[in-house]
Amino acid sequence: MDDPLVYLNGEMTPLSEAKISVLDRGFIFGDGVYEVVPIYQRKAFRAEQHIARLFRSLAAIEIDSPHTREEWMALVNQVSSAHPVEDQLVYIQVTRGVAKRLHAFPKDTTPTVFIMTSHHTPPSSEVRAKGVACVSIEDKRWLRCEIKSISLLGNVLAAQYASEQSAVESIQFRDGFLTEGAACNVWIVKDGKLAGPPKDNLILEGIRYGLMEELCKAEGVPLEFRRITRDEVFSADEVILSSAGKEVLPVVRIDEQTIGSGKPGAIFGKLYAAYQLAKAKK
Ligand SMILES: Cc1ncc(COP(=O)(O)O)c(C=O)c1O
Repeated sequence: MDDPLVYLNGEMTPLSEAKISVLDRGFIFGDGVYEVVPIYQRKAFRAEQHIARLFRSLAAIEIDSPHTREEWMALVNQVSSAHPVEDQLVYIQVTRGVAKRLHAFPKDTTPTVFIMTSHHTPPSSEVRAKGVACVSIEDKRWLRCEIKSISLLGNVLAAQYASEQSAVESIQFRDGFLTEGAACNVWIVKDGKLAGPPKDNLILEGIRYGLMEELCKAEGVPLEFRRITRDEVFSADEVILSSAGKEVLPVVRIDEQTIGSGKPGAIFGKLYAAYQLAKAKK
């Protein structure tokens, strides 16, 4: 759909007609936060958790939420209902609003709220069956990665680095320890156990973090959150990416090195199947 209806500050409008001020602090400073909510067959998946994270991000940058949880849910439904496809990724952005260009928070500004949606096309079965190649990179982002901030320059540069090497994602390391991808979380499997980095300020805790915990419990896969060294990643039996867009995706190569057998592993297979079941149940 070329010109879908989007929501901007109380109005539904065609995307091509949605306009904001050049003084919006999102444009000027990247002063805002966002969320991405997957929709499957017209139903929001894990919407409560996504909206709860939006509230956490807003609180972290001291923007009072312009909507209640129920209102956010209704807006997500309103925008997704207006789109013709059944599976979507709804994008919500909230900025501090329009004000004179001064760094510190302005008084009495109204946050800008923008919501759009697009067709959600998770990686194809061919891509999943083969697994994907990634590159490693030093994590050069700021130290508040737990906030889903629209200031994404570090992530953009990491994603571009991957793209230039025809890789699907950059896997970032800070001081020798795994953090996350440019736009996803990263997991390793060793001896049948799944491990992910701790939920701290160095990563965005994906909504799939909680989901992986549930899936691991259901499937009897041991899971731990701990610091993971670069060596552990490269010598893992499996490496797995997770995000709303990628769902769960197996990594078979990082830089020039093959991961595990070079094929998607058994734990990935279990978690992928369990993920599809969770989607179907909703
Ligand atoms: C930097 C980063 N980490 C992790 C994630 C995964 O989060 P979620 O599982 O909520 O999609 C994303 C998602 O876009 C991301 O951009």
